Amino acid sequence: MKKYNYLKLHPWEIIEEGFHANKVTSSESLFSIGNGYMGQRANFEESYSGETFRGSYIAGVYYPDRTKVGWWKIGYPDFFAKVLNSPNWIGIELNINNQDFDLNKCSRIEKFKRVLNLKEGFYLRSFEAVLKDKTRVFIESKRFLSMARKDIGMIRYKIKPINKKCSIKLKSYIDGDVANQDSNWDEQFWKHEGKETKDNFAALKSKTLKTSYKVCTFMHNELFLNNEIIREKPKIEIKKNKISHTFSYEVDSNKSLSIVKCGGYVSSIRHSSVNFNKTYELSKEALDLGFNFLLNEQKNEWKKIWENSDVLINGDVKAQQAIRYNIFQLNQTYTGEDERLNIGPKGFTGEKYGGGTYWDTEAFCFPFYLATKGSLAARNLLRYRYNHLEKAIENSQKLGFGNGAALYPMVTMNGEECHNEWEITFEEIHRNGAIAYAIFYYENFTNDKSYIPKYGLEVLIGISRFWKQRLSFSEEKNKYVLLGITGPNEYENNVNNNWYTNYIAKWCLNYSVVQVQNVREKYMTDYKRIKKKTGLSEIEIKKWKEIYQNIYMPYDSKKQVYLQQEGFLDKELKFVDEIPMNERPINQNWSWDKILRSPYIKQADVLQGFYFFEDDFTREELRRNFEFYEPFTVHESSLSACVHSILASRLYKKQKAYQFFLNASRLDLDDYNKEVMEGLHITSMGGAWMAISKGFGGMKISNGVFSFNPKLPPKWTSLSFKVNFDGSILTVMINKKETTFELTGDRPINLISSGKKITVQPKKHIT
Ligand code: BGC
Repeated sequence: MKKYNYLKLHPWEIIEEGFHANKVTSSESLFSIGNGYMGQRANFEESYSGETFRGSYIAGVYYPDRTKVGWWKIGYPDFFAKVLNSPNWIGIELNINNQDFDLNKCSRIEKFKRVLNLKEGFYLRSFEAVLKDKTRVFIESKRFLSMARKDIGMIRYKIKPINKKCSIKLKSYIDGDVANQDSNWDEQFWKHEGKETKDNFAALKSKTLKTSYKVCTFMHNELFLNNEIIREKPKIEIKKNKISHTFSYEVDSNKSLSIVKCGGYVSSIRHSSVNFNKTYELSKEALDLGFNFLLNEQKNEWKKIWENSDVLINGDVKAQQAIRYNIFQLNQTYTGEDERLNIGPKGFTGEKYGGGTYWDTEAFCFPFYLATKGSLAARNLLRYRYNHLEKAIENSQKLGFGNGAALYPMVTMNGEECHNEWEITFEEIHRNGAIAYAIFYYENFTNDKSYIPKYGLEVLIGISRFWKQRLSFSEEKNKYVLLGITGPNEYENNVNNNWYTNYIAKWCLNYSVVQVQNVREKYMTDYKRIKKKTGLSEIEIKKWKEIYQNIYMPYDSKKQVYLQQEGFLDKELKFVDEIPMNERPINQNWSWDKILRSPYIKQADVLQGFYFFEDDFTREELRRNFEFYEPFTVHESSLSACVHSILASRLYKKQKAYQFFLNASRLDLDDYNKEVMEGLHITSMGGAWMAISKGFGGMKISNGVFSFNPKLPPKWTSLSFKVNFDGSILTVMINKKETTFELTGDRPINLISSGKKITVQPKKHIT
């Protein structure tokens, strides 16, 4: 694959040097910042006439955009939920010696640099520009969204004339006239309901149409000459939904004029009342504390995050930079504190996928949050689905299922399905399995047995009821079958007996039976409550058993591999390396018809099952299936490379595992799929972390016991990563010769290291 890397390597920073006009939208994605409650693309503060994609988003604030397609089919979703592009509060128009500043129109741009500081959580941009009249200025902007104060962000925007005195105008504004990149019916998403401006403060009150989220966007500005505050009253302008404060100042050469802007959103997602006073107080307090104070606070917040999640790789700065970037972006997207929020495939960095929740969360992100943030964050992610159980039951009712059967949506904001492609909405039902799997993973990882009787069992019952009804009995095969399926490989639709889906359905039914028994034996009060609520019966449980023991699993005894679906071997089985390079990626070059008939696999499908259910198969079975399917896989989903990396590690294919890891972790940094301008692939970043811990670290949990079986890539001299066991942090340090464990807290942990049972005592190293 061709790489388009224009970024520098650094262990803790993402650096762009030199102005790349053709990469502005890519950099806007790559340098995005966020704090779990809001996030924004790295747009320039000043106006820019070149290509740009402006975006600023608030977690959970969405609009149900009425669907244009398929609504005539019964059961089709009514809307597609979209996280909304929200009022812009970062804008600062700049005028120097009567010339509007625009990076697209400068005579020269020199020493242009962007830095995303991963360690301390800020974004910096600086450059020297020569204007048409030869005025030379230095400009630097530093920006962050506060991790400590979730409603606010800070900008310090500095201009320093270099060769002459300048008359500078800084027009700082908030602007409600924003729109998403697309809307199905050109509907308005926002209604603006009021404006206020007082001293150096301004705010705009808005409400989302249909969903009625209230948002007050604000800004509060302060001006400094060198480091001295200037108590300057701005000129105020109010135009439609834009409020601007303009400051004018004469600045001698080599003196600097800075504007410190505190801005952000107070929204009904976080506050019971959304009013101007609150935004005024919040921003005033921030300005009184000062930019440097808040930046320090930010550094401390990030220090805490890194203490619990850093991955250290020696001998490979490319890999080091990538994994830290992935961890950084995951933390910017979701902090684990709020059970109403989740992780969209693009986080706050773009609008594709609408910002909704996919199976990506459970299958690719859940292990990361559990191991680096602890069980509370993971429980919040599980609770998100528990809270959507009623809707999942309604979703399946819309398709004709009943008796409390739950089909979780392929994509959602509020629990309702809103995926707009029938072959996915109705057929990609394996997502239900990933949701059950996360419950199992949590229970196995944490040993917290209370989640299942309290919440988890109800979800498992709903899911199993769905499988029971969705599986049908084939007289011919004398087995239960799943017809009309799309597996994880979306380059096949409407197939029969997709092995992965059949396998996870079987596993779910089995796991539910075990958990019903467990709750009945140990948590009688909960059992009675659940039985009453769900009407669960013995006959039903017996039926689940009968079904899971008799589900058809397509298998080819000659090749000794599981079949992705019935009929897979009828395809012209040509390997991916026979596709001409200029026809890749195939989803950008081939008709859908051609893709569907081809043997090419978008992402791990059979192999996804081998990844989840490692203990159910021998290494030899894994090898055969890996070697059969991998040559047909085009990895055109960002979620593919990480699973392949983990499996290649399990097979000791170290070089392959390493290459897949780079593909997963540097997918955006190196823009492998030539689409980074649309936003980052946040959910696959969770997969990159799994490739480190489960792949190279060989971490596995079986029946609540952790084991590590490391396989270091040849290039690396050492690797270390952290796992949070309810507040005690286990650091696993691997080098070419040995593995060392270190534990915080006060409880020892028993584990298996390269086949040997050991006990790790708190505050002691064990090698
Ligand atoms: C993948 C899905 C995934 C979705 C969102 C698709 O391209 O095939 O598995 O859930 O993207 O990341």
